[in-house]
Amino acid sequence: MDNFWASLKKPVFALAPLSGITDSAFRRICKGLGADVVYSELASSTAIAYQAESTLDIMRFDESERPYVVQLFGNNPEHFAVAARIVSREIKPDGIDINFGCPMAKVFKRGAGAALMTNRHLAREVVQSVVENTHLPVSIKTRTDVKGFGLAGLLECVSDLDIKALMIHGRTYAQRFSGPNDIETTKEARTRFQGTILANGGATSQALAVELIEKTAADGVGIARGALGNPWIFKQLKASMSGGLIAKPEREDVLRTALEHARLLVALKGRRGIIQMRKHLCWYLHQIRGGKKLNERAVSIESLDDVAALVARAAAQGAG
Ligand SMILES: Cc1cc2nc3c(=O)[nH]c(=O)nc-3n(C[C@H](O)[C@H](O)[C@H](O)COP(=O)(O)O)c2cc1C
Repeated sequence: MDNFWASLKKPVFALAPLSGITDSAFRRICKGLGADVVYSELASSTAIAYQAESTLDIMRFDESERPYVVQLFGNNPEHFAVAARIVSREIKPDGIDINFGCPMAKVFKRGAGAALMTNRHLAREVVQSVVENTHLPVSIKTRTDVKGFGLAGLLECVSDLDIKALMIHGRTYAQRFSGPNDIETTKEARTRFQGTILANGGATSQALAVELIEKTAADGVGIARGALGNPWIFKQLKASMSGGLIAKPEREDVLRTALEHARLLVALKGRRGIIQMRKHLCWYLHQIRGGKKLNERAVSIESLDDVAALVARAAAQGAG
């Protein structure tokens, strides 16, 4: 097995999975700007087991994204086993991650995502199914606690299984996506887990990401929302580790990247890509002075030409 996790330079800066966002286009942008490893959006192991083309499409990637990790979710160990085989053989990423953190009702109600933390027997079976059906390194992404079922208990029950990396969203299921990050639980995970540990949650700026790594003593950090409109966060973090400082991206960098992102999305998804680009454009525009004023136009783009026109207008606004 080629365990890429072991060869990554620490601290590791990962693009954490974001459903509806970390598609191949965004992953390529982040990789190009310094992300050490990028995660797919969560993909249903059940859909993959039934060969659903749309789910297989979600996972496809470009070689430039490597190391690239596909994240699976589900509640059925047999589906995970089949999915692990299909992903390894047909998609060929560098790793497979299992979602133990999703709190969304449609996932949770079915006993998948964060609900897996409350069913240790099933959690163990799921991990075992994946580990036994892939040659790729397996990782898990968890919360700190789900309805009283803590991370320590989960790690204990899978301690003999070959898990290479762990990303800990330092919040409970009840906290969803806001509130303080439980530093101690992430720190304590080191006593139970010897692989790569990535802290996650609230690293929305360079300074906060560095602070999270320092406080948790983790091997790296998973950045999710902090990369929206600001994929430069990876470059900035790399620079700060080597004592350097990279200023905020220039207006033209932001606009050039937004256009490149739009081109990638359209090449990948056609019109659907344009619709998805609307939110990214707003996030990019928030990075530049006066950009918010263009929000209304950003949410109504219909074509690549519209994006180019908007970018030209934003550039001219900066020059004026
Ligand atoms: C819109 C959205 C989609 C998400 N999708 C996923 C996902 O597919 N898989 C996953 O493990 N976590 C997912 N997460 C959780 C993030 O990976 C991350 O754990 C969380 O946002 C905290 O990190 P942050 O503060 O850096 O954003 C999602 C979060 C948001 C806001």
